[in-house]
Amino acid sequence: MKKRHITVLLLLYFFLSSFFGWAQSALYLDESQPVEVRVKDALSRMTIEEKVALCHAQSKFSSKGVPRLGIPDVWSSDGSHGVSDEKLWDEWNSAQWTNDSCTAFPALTCLAATFNPKIARLYGTSIGEEARYRNKTMLLGPGVNIYRTPLNGRNFEYMGEDPFLASRMVVPYVQGVQSNGVAACVKHFALNNQEIARGEINVNVSDRALHEIYLPAFKAAVQEGNVWSIMGAYNKIWGLHCCHNDILLNQILKNDWKFDGVVVSDWGGVHNTDEAVNGGLDIEMGTYTNGLTTQGHFPFSSYYLADPFLKGIKSGRYEMSKLDDKAGRILRMIFRTTMGANRPYGRFVSPEHSDAARKTAQEGIVLLKNEKQFLPIPEGRYKKIAVIGENAVKSLIVGGGSTSLKAAYEISPLQGLKNKYGESNILYSMGYASGRPLYGAEEPSRLNLDSLQNAAIETARQADIVLFVGGLNKNYFQDCESGDRRSLSLPFGQDKLIEEIQKVNHNVAVVLLSGNAVLMPWLNKTKAVVQGWYLGSEAGNALADIISGEANPSGKLPISFPRKLEDAGAHAFDQLCYPGDGNNVYYKEDILVGYRWYDTKKIPVLFPFGYGLSYTTFQYGKPAVSSKTITAADSLEVTVSIKNTGKVAGKEVVQLYVSDETSSLPRPVKELKGFEKISLEPGEEKTVRFTLTKEDLSYYDDIKKEWIAEPGKFKIMIGASASDIRGTVDFNLK
Ligand code: BGC
Repeated sequence: MKKRHITVLLLLYFFLSSFFGWAQSALYLDESQPVEVRVKDALSRMTIEEKVALCHAQSKFSSKGVPRLGIPDVWSSDGSHGVSDEKLWDEWNSAQWTNDSCTAFPALTCLAATFNPKIARLYGTSIGEEARYRNKTMLLGPGVNIYRTPLNGRNFEYMGEDPFLASRMVVPYVQGVQSNGVAACVKHFALNNQEIARGEINVNVSDRALHEIYLPAFKAAVQEGNVWSIMGAYNKIWGLHCCHNDILLNQILKNDWKFDGVVVSDWGGVHNTDEAVNGGLDIEMGTYTNGLTTQGHFPFSSYYLADPFLKGIKSGRYEMSKLDDKAGRILRMIFRTTMGANRPYGRFVSPEHSDAARKTAQEGIVLLKNEKQFLPIPEGRYKKIAVIGENAVKSLIVGGGSTSLKAAYEISPLQGLKNKYGESNILYSMGYASGRPLYGAEEPSRLNLDSLQNAAIETARQADIVLFVGGLNKNYFQDCESGDRRSLSLPFGQDKLIEEIQKVNHNVAVVLLSGNAVLMPWLNKTKAVVQGWYLGSEAGNALADIISGEANPSGKLPISFPRKLEDAGAHAFDQLCYPGDGNNVYYKEDILVGYRWYDTKKIPVLFPFGYGLSYTTFQYGKPAVSSKTITAADSLEVTVSIKNTGKVAGKEVVQLYVSDETSSLPRPVKELKGFEKISLEPGEEKTVRFTLTKEDLSYYDDIKKEWIAEPGKFKIMIGASASDIRGTVDFNLK
């Protein structure tokens, strides 16, 4: 063969091999390929070092992609009710960008209070659009830890005390977020129900309570919402940290539930390489960096899942399959999100997002008391409306820990009321003052509290009516991460202030902004009470909509309000039950959490779960079942008619509770297994339909380790709250 021919052949060879090589590499880049094909292809091209680099942080909120292959880094952002601002590379502090002020949506207790999965979908889609616009891979939320004690500083981030409600709301939230090509990250898996000693505390809970109460919302997010990532919790269970807990992550989450996404640690929640490698963790975040667990700089290469992992793989201590599984999961998330097919573009602080925030707030605000139709207050009825209270003007978007937001705007309650009733009709007085938040503490206010109080009383005396806007706030030991509340009472002398105001003005309505239940010693003398949660950017507008009657309240409590702290299940025992002894906490109330406890133990509450008034009234018909006897294979249809018997249009949340009348294991008196929010014009009547299946009748048997629907008699209760049952109907399970 001539030299020229050889050269041509060689050129041809190089051309063809590079062409096919490229064609091959195009597999993981090819959006039309199934995700699994892309994952396998990408993995086959990566070095061990590149795979390990996927598994730990490279900055406060990012981990590496594969730069050589064009696979982007993974960027995450808090939180569950707004996309937080950009942070410095390895610090919690803001990077001070000027283009990252978000829409603040209402906090998740408010979303749960809407009892409206369609609102959850709208909410998820909207916040997902904001996360997408900001180019995030992962949005660190929503949180679905169950509300066990009203003292938990993070309850406002979660969806209430009932696993069924939280499950129905988390699924559309996750689907909405992920429709934008952004992974939702459901957190904190699992049992992070208190902030005291959260990093060490070992939660002792029965398997039954774990499966019936604390896991269902996570399970629904995985199996129905197909969530792409999940965050481990700080605390321990079975003596092991949740971020690397073989039973929780490998057996339950990945094996039993078939979760194929990524387990991310909570920031600083990883403690050990062997456990992190083998215990089901995929990405390690926040270890030993500034600020959270141990102070000081700790190079990212020293993370448990960085160099020690790499060394262990090379020495044969850890199996290669462990690394491939983690890297594969992370790649899968990347191919579903930033490298996904037809990823939408998102949008940021759009008018649609303000509308979504306002709608959520309107539907989540709960009217707790309304004596003689004190509310609504139409425009023009009163000349002088006194607005009293710090929460009428204080930002409730900032603070609270990792959910603190830099919002594009925030309409305060005072501003919203002025917009509605006219500046000249509103008299404002602060009345009380909270302190200045410091890290892990609060510096008391330097204002003179007596003069604040006196001024407020004077203002109240001059006004026709008083709207007191108080509650908790996002300072430490209020509704705030890293600590729990120290008492169930309102802070900063508000109880006394309200009582003093009531001495000079009998027309007082109280608006509470909080993520937690509080005591209300002044309730009897108060004309109306509104539970307003934390409402985000549109707070003031939404509150004014409700107070003026432009929107009819339709929120229902996703939590019970006890009459005193010791009435709550978690507080009915000793310190070991809450907050524990620093090492262990024992959930002695077991499956009886929230209304399950109060109802079963016949303890009266201030306001029950599922409760909320409207400006109209609803009449419930008699419920009926499709069959009086069913087998476990059948489903049961329950119907009930509801009529709006008042003068204005309104929405009612019709609730279905199941009671197992003949059970070999103790069961709560009733459990929510269905709800439907319906909209009715005055005089209009609609039939609501529920379908129950075996799952809705089952309990978790600790010994057999399975769900059991036990034959016998069941009672269906249809109600307007857990304590307001309007009709019942029985059936038999064969
Ligand atoms: C919180 C998480 C949060 C993370 C990142 C942690 O302290 O527990 O909920 O997503 O910080 O800010």
